[in-house]
Amino acid sequence: MAIRKIRQLGDECLTKVCKEVKMISPRTKILVQDMFDTMYEAGGVGLAAPQVGVLKRIVVIDVDDNPHVLINPEILETSGEQTGYEGCLSYAGKSGIVTRPNYAKVKALNLDGEEYILEGEELLARCICHECDHLEGIMYVQKVEGDVVDNADLYAEEEETE
Ligand code: NI
Repeated sequence: MAIRKIRQLGDECLTKVCKEVKMISPRTKILVQDMFDTMYEAGGVGLAAPQVGVLKRIVVIDVDDNPHVLINPEILETSGEQTGYEGCLSYAGKSGIVTRPNYAKVKALNLDGEEYILEGEELLARCICHECDHLEGIMYVQKVEGDVVDNADLYAEEEETE
């Protein structure tokens, strides 16, 4: 188990278009394991390789105790719309409102180099789109509607309205 340092907004790794993975090597497998460890440790539901400083097209996602590895992911289809708060481990403690598709279908390779399809709705769809954006050097703050807020303020606001 190895926790890698999560790059924060302003780090140039987060602005680069990542390179396709040509060969899944033992190093790739270690990287993926480290990405899961790092994501779980930070309490996240998705992490892209550039967030740990590796400019490769690799994403890990786990929104419901179902871990997914997406290597060279390609979004094939999206539909619908959802608008809601979104955060990112590379902008710790903050959230902002982003509109995303409510459904996403993505094609990717797994760690054995086999192509598979992952489909998701709601949080999984949001996560697929958010993580794939990272591979293009795009942070959610570029898509945010209104202000980015501190999570502490967000929770306080929720308590007030309840
Ligand atoms: Ni992110």
